[in-house]
Amino acid sequence: MKLGVNIDHVATLRQARYAGMLDLPNSEPDLLAAASACERAGAHGITIHLRADRRHIQDQDVFRLRETIVSKLNLEMGNTPEILEIALKLLPEEVCLVPENRQEITTEGGLDAAGQIHALNPTIVRLQSAAVRVSLFIEPAFEQIEAAKKLGADMVELHTGAFANAQGEARQKELARLQAAADFASDLGLQVNAGHGINYTNIHEILMVPHLAELNIGHSIISRALFTGLESAVIEMISAMNGPRQ
Ligand code: PXP
Repeated sequence: MKLGVNIDHVATLRQARYAGMLDLPNSEPDLLAAASACERAGAHGITIHLRADRRHIQDQDVFRLRETIVSKLNLEMGNTPEILEIALKLLPEEVCLVPENRQEITTEGGLDAAGQIHALNPTIVRLQSAAVRVSLFIEPAFEQIEAAKKLGADMVELHTGAFANAQGEARQKELARLQAAADFASDLGLQVNAGHGINYTNIHEILMVPHLAELNIGHSIISRALFTGLESAVIEMISAMNGPRQ
């Protein structure tokens, strides 16, 4: 199972002090240094979300990262003409289409692929024609997985947020939903990824979900990095991911 590290929060911290002043030599923390620390620690990819409001990752970040990262770049984006044009210039290895709402703190809920077939289809075709692999960030629901298949997506990223926040019986139910969704998506020939709210504790439960090819993890790794450093935080997560799989 591969790990993509979402480094948006490194940019969040930088923007808190240096928004509009990125070219100052004292602007920090440095996003490129963060990406290479993740790669040195064994991350298989770097994930960034270029949001319409540019609250963390900036346009110049995505192009600089494109030049410097040696693993692979996964661009998360809302399906808007502006960001699509940037993605087609950037040519990341992968794009993950996500829903985007200005008020949300982070991506809440999955993309309604089933309800947006007509809007998503041309975007997916354009990205794939440019040799970009496309993932859809969706709830672990059969109708969304069917829609992803119908749309010709290469991958789905199952939203693990509801599972991560659930307690007791509801947690078992959410885990079972993820397991059934992963089985269904894999049977349809889709690569199955997962992300959102995965941390050093619940990773052991996530390992009970079959077919997972890649996890995208941000908040928890960057939080731990405050205490251990980024390389150690990534190494620790990779080692947890390689723990006994059920
Ligand atoms: N995957 C997707 C599609 C996301 O939008 C996010 C959050 O930006 C993540 C993964 C990472 O989530 P977290 O920061 O909770 O690990």
